[in-house]
Amino acid sequence: GQGGASAAPGVAAAAPEVANDNVLTILYGSQTGNSKHLAQAFQAKAEEAGYTSKLVSMADYKPRSIKNESHLAVFVSTHGEGDAPDDAIELHEFLDSKKAPKLSSLKYGVLGLGDTSYEFFCQTGKDFDARLAKLGGTAVIPRADCDVDYEAQAEAWTAEFISALKDDFGKGSAATSVAAQTGAAAQTLGASSTYTKKAPFKAELLDAQKITGRDSVKDIRHIEISLEDSGITYQPGDALGVWFLNSPALVTAFLEELSLNGDEQVSLGDDTLSLSDALSRKLELTLSYPNFVKAYQAATGSESLAKLMEDKATLRTYMAERQLIDIVRDHPGKISAQALVDAMRPLTPRLYSIASSQAEVEDEVHLTVAHVDYEAFGHRHQGGASGFLCEHLEEGGEVEVFVENNDNFRLPDNPDTPVIMVGPGTGIAPFRAFMQERDAQGAEGKNWLFFGNPHFTQDFLYQVEWQGYVKSGLLDKVTLAFSRDQEEKVYVQHKLKEYGKDVFEWLEQGAHFYVCGDAMHMAKDVEAALIELIKTHGNKSEEEAKAYVVALRKAKRYQKDVY
Ligand code: 2AM
Repeated sequence: GQGGASAAPGVAAAAPEVANDNVLTILYGSQTGNSKHLAQAFQAKAEEAGYTSKLVSMADYKPRSIKNESHLAVFVSTHGEGDAPDDAIELHEFLDSKKAPKLSSLKYGVLGLGDTSYEFFCQTGKDFDARLAKLGGTAVIPRADCDVDYEAQAEAWTAEFISALKDDFGKGSAATSVAAQTGAAAQTLGASSTYTKKAPFKAELLDAQKITGRDSVKDIRHIEISLEDSGITYQPGDALGVWFLNSPALVTAFLEELSLNGDEQVSLGDDTLSLSDALSRKLELTLSYPNFVKAYQAATGSESLAKLMEDKATLRTYMAERQLIDIVRDHPGKISAQALVDAMRPLTPRLYSIASSQAEVEDEVHLTVAHVDYEAFGHRHQGGASGFLCEHLEEGGEVEVFVENNDNFRLPDNPDTPVIMVGPGTGIAPFRAFMQERDAQGAEGKNWLFFGNPHFTQDFLYQVEWQGYVKSGLLDKVTLAFSRDQEEKVYVQHKLKEYGKDVFEWLEQGAHFYVCGDAMHMAKDVEAALIELIKTHGNKSEEEAKAYVVALRKAKRYQKDVY
């Protein structure tokens, strides 16, 4: 097969150039890697069944080739307010455009990943399903909309989909799985670490230093963890998954509010354990989520809670500000130990962008962690993982970790390529890793850091290190936005526009542009500033500037690690 339009024009039906008849194409698009893992597990099952399959990241998929697919499995997450992950944007839009082809012979299935705490739950998965159906495709299996505890549902969906395709893929057919088309995907498959989310490495906490000043409004910690004897390797841009224990004080307070004593035996999956053990290690306690509210209301018959549930928007705002214990305090009632456990989400590890390079720190891994710790409704509130890392875990204590590869946030292959890094607050983390790596490489490419935080004297994270890199010549520019050091707020996006001429010049020189940190506001404002400065300094219309940004993204020169 040669591919391309030159192959037998007019007789395409006789020899479609890259027809994927009886190849099961598995497409994934995600921000965090969850959908990639599910897609890989799905492919393993497909292979076991003897199906011919192909695993492709949406980032590397040509939207037009969808017309050649006979069978498609789509794994896609949603983030923020119903937004498609970056990798999925192009295909997501293409399927809704005039260019989208008829797909009347396509058989497909969609598994969406999301979080029921958000209003537009699994929206991107829903969109894919609707768009494929509208183009004439047939859903072989109903779409799965998975919540954060997706494992069991995804496993069941996978099994059902594979079995629904039995007739098309006939048992015993040659089980050759077509190698993934791209280098990136191939690398992913060869991932090094044997430690995973389900089988994490028991690491030792070496250090947890506060790096914001005494008078800071923030409590940000520099965390060092030992990976000694694990053989774990990671790349700058990767994240570290961190398992944690809920705070003992919170567990006790929660039990008290519910008049439960903690000794009750409960079952959770295949385990039987005490309620206090389950609350400490197994269940999500420091957030709130809709399923809990429903189940708790049903068990307690609380009228005040029922009233609150009448209006979705009110309930959402109410939940966003509270942890489970606040809801229980506001709406006291009786619930059995087992019903409580059934109402709760399983604990999930938190991902932190890694702040170190192994070229510099070898068998350590460093994180930059904001300690969530505040007063509200008359009580102390603490983040689950950050409270564990910053307070409850003692130096030398054990923390279970694993590396989550992030192929969507990588330094340029070519060390001569210039790099622009925008990382306010804890968004600074991966750029510390980038600079350590480039320093070790002796990379010649220019480097420019944009950093912001409330106050220069209190919140200039890793100040000494940046100054060292400026002195050594590694960092060409550091541009700072201390938001509260003057009357008017100054943010990184303001600085980007102020230095727009140079930023555009760097982009024209081939610079890669990275953004890390807050997704809801900062990353959106930074993108708007980027478009703005391209308009101004590239003499472009709004449309042209947007196209320029899309081209950057497609060339993997605009990468985001936002949360
Ligand atoms: P503020 O808290 O003073 O408003 C890291 O959190 C830094 O990002 C802080 O200086 C914070 O400023 C700033 N910040 C807040 N909202 C932002 C936004 N929409 N865009 C960029 N920076 C923002």
